[in-house]
Amino acid sequence: MKPAQDHFMPSAEKNSSVMAKLKTDTSLAHRQLERNICLSRLFQTDYTVGEYRYLIAKFYGFFSAIEPFIFANLEPANHALLAHRRKTDLLVKDLSLLDIDNFNPRTMTLCDQIPVLNSFARQMGALYVLEGSTLGGRIISKKLIDHFGNAIIPTLNYYQSYGDKVIDEWSAFHRFMADRFDGKEIETNEVVSAAIETFSCLDQWLQTS
Ligand code: HEM
Repeated sequence: MKPAQDHFMPSAEKNSSVMAKLKTDTSLAHRQLERNICLSRLFQTDYTVGEYRYLIAKFYGFFSAIEPFIFANLEPANHALLAHRRKTDLLVKDLSLLDIDNFNPRTMTLCDQIPVLNSFARQMGALYVLEGSTLGGRIISKKLIDHFGNAIIPTLNYYQSYGDKVIDEWSAFHRFMADRFDGKEIETNEVVSAAIETFSCLDQWLQTS
């Protein structure tokens, strides 16, 4: 599925140059990630709860490794606007409900290949990727409910992270990024290269067993 439909986006936000560049320059990386077997399997008729559990465990291994760097040393004003966007705790909640024997987040294997996030621009490039996953999450959670039935709903905390506020949160993130980066070419390039690296690291991590 191509992340091209931004029909819901108010026009002022469509014009944000950093967000437009992110969308264009990462679309190949997004398509590549969607082809990853862990994700493409989501749409197969014989998809199993075990595979879903494995995917959430892999996401946990990635998000819990990268989020501390994304949210490190943010200016207080930025931190206040972004702190609620962390998703590691939602993944912990899903994993604890997915019947993993002796589930203990502290002993799970975490991803050790994450992009270097040594500037605010690079931190925000990585956050763009993680935030964007809430958009596809709407489609995926609907698909999972159709496939497994309502019993799966309590384990969809990550995929339904903002509930019916997904679009509002994405719009707010657009404005935040536009305010910070529009018109700043060097920083925008840093944002974009960190986003592409983040997609690629996640893709690699999902291929690692
Ligand atoms: C099978 C898995 C996935 C599907 C089907 C999917 C689907 C989509 C769709 C349909 C959109 C566009 C939403 C809209 O404009 O209404 C989107 C956007 C996006 N997705 Fe995915 N996605 C998947 C996985 C992921 C993952 C795992 C990530 C990152 C962790 C991700 C990151 C993004 C980003 C960053 C955007 C925003 C693109 C923009 O700038 O507009 N996606 N995705």
